[in-house]
Amino acid sequence: MCGIVGYVGEKRAQGVVVEGLRRLEYRGYDSAGIALVHDGRLAVDKRAGKLANLEKAIADDELPPASVGIGHTRWATHGPPTDRNAHPHPGREGRVAVVHNGIIENFAELREVLEDEGHELISETDTEVAAHLLEREVSAGVDLTTAMQRVCRELEGAFTLVAVDAADPSRVVAARRNSPLVVGIGEGENFLGSDVAAFIEHTREALELGQDQVVTITRDGVSVTGFDGTPAEGRRYHVDWDLSAAEKDGHDWFMRKEIYEQPRAVADSLLGRRTPTGALHLDEVRISDEELREVDKIIIVACGTSFYAGMVAKYAIEHWTRTPVEVELASEFRYRDPILNHSTLIVAISQSGETADTLQAIRHARTQRSKVLAICNTNGSTIPRESDAVIYTHAGPEIGVASTKGFLTQLVACYLLALYLAQVKGTRYGDEITEIMDQLEAMPAHIQTVLDNDSAVYELARSHVDTRSVLFLGRHAGYPVALEGALKLKELAYLHAEGFAAGELKHGPIALVEEGLPVLCVVPPRGRDQLHDKMVSGIQEVRARGARTLCIAEEGDTAILRYADELIPLPKVPVLLQPLVAVVPLQLFACELATALGHDVDQPRNLAKSVTVE
Ligand code: M6R
Repeated sequence: MCGIVGYVGEKRAQGVVVEGLRRLEYRGYDSAGIALVHDGRLAVDKRAGKLANLEKAIADDELPPASVGIGHTRWATHGPPTDRNAHPHPGREGRVAVVHNGIIENFAELREVLEDEGHELISETDTEVAAHLLEREVSAGVDLTTAMQRVCRELEGAFTLVAVDAADPSRVVAARRNSPLVVGIGEGENFLGSDVAAFIEHTREALELGQDQVVTITRDGVSVTGFDGTPAEGRRYHVDWDLSAAEKDGHDWFMRKEIYEQPRAVADSLLGRRTPTGALHLDEVRISDEELREVDKIIIVACGTSFYAGMVAKYAIEHWTRTPVEVELASEFRYRDPILNHSTLIVAISQSGETADTLQAIRHARTQRSKVLAICNTNGSTIPRESDAVIYTHAGPEIGVASTKGFLTQLVACYLLALYLAQVKGTRYGDEITEIMDQLEAMPAHIQTVLDNDSAVYELARSHVDTRSVLFLGRHAGYPVALEGALKLKELAYLHAEGFAAGELKHGPIALVEEGLPVLCVVPPRGRDQLHDKMVSGIQEVRARGARTLCIAEEGDTAILRYADELIPLPKVPVLLQPLVAVVPLQLFACELATALGHDVDQPRNLAKSVTVE
């Protein structure tokens, strides 16, 4: 939610900042802007709409050759996406400029105070008050770092702020509370970014900041303090991916590239999890085996696609460990006063590690003495930092707003957690765990087989450009897959798409079925239980009412042939692992249909990659 860049060094800041914004545009694309400091003056340019609008404006306006600058790409909260509400926001005399991510909750009262003092605020944003407050401080004679510390002590809410002062071209100053910010450490230059993608082409050395910290970057140094001015230290780390991971690599969309990266992402997320004796080993889990044995309830909290990964996890954890699992939307969790204690394990799933709803859920859980284990793809992000343990997924950067490889690797981490708990609690024998691990390690090849059949799915998608509504049905672990398929179609193709548990259909939703309605059916593998046969009955029921059934089913499933208008085959895999292959055609379907409809797949309307406001 909003991308922020800061630079000070020897290069021309304009190029560095705009390039950084391009790599962060997936975080928000309602407007973009830049502020440069040159010859004691600020040059600010900002435009509503995508970054391309700003780039065009900059080309016409010819900005000065500054070597200090900040930039912003916005996901609007306060005030519509207009030029005026775009960041950066200057202070009263145009000496300080500020970019911001988050929400300043007490902005209305601060604005009132400033207006009483005669300040004229011209935007509808909460950000502009920070610019005026900072400028008031530096005009009174303190440096920008001190000004930032003082102002942050007055602010409530969640924010990352980055500021420059025209009178001090040596530094860029930033602050964070509950909102992301990382420092890029270069030679003779330093960077700030909402995430490392902002500066990955210049440096892979990064500094993670803590809560309520102010950071000052100059050409030659980085210094960190608390809001009270006490010196502090960030955690330095090396980014283990490079520029190529942040490029499309010949694909039309990041999302499509990321779909095809899934076999590798799944393999990487499984790597190094077994000891030479065959036991499962999760090195980031800092909760003792004894504490894990005492866990008598697990609550999974997550949002969106990560929530659906949690729903799949429930089937696996309960089946393998016999421990009860609840899955809850993070945004609802703390408001219902959940029953928690020290033997409740909270599992927070988040690709970005910055989702505000999930972060607030784990904070609440920790106040109730529950342990928190995070499943996360982003090193250095807030959710793993505030958790007792973390299983990192190794998907590499996910830039497409619609999560794909993030989801598959979250599933892998959930399976690993379930098996680890089974090992610790002794609910499965070692050889059973070994067998399931072998099956998991075979999954990248199965996912590749599904990807190799992409043309059939693409053709199917293109034949649905006139469709206005699609239903998705699934059962058991296929039910969350149906929900995820529907979410992908909603967010990318802007279609009415709904996922249902197939057995629930006859209790109401079947009334939606009419002649020609496409119904995508995720068919469970044939097994000893009745899952498959029950699903076939559900398919018959919708078909009898005129639906066109698009079935995703295990290869060789002859029972489904008679009832499928279209059939996408899946490799034979165990029912609990089937989501890893079954969701892939649904991702391809949504990506291709949205492309055929002329939509921007990587930047769907109204969305942002990481949702850092509640
Ligand atoms: O970064 P997180 O996994 O916490 O994000 C959660 C959701 O915002 C995210 O999965 C969202 O639903 C995606 N746009 C889905 O494609």
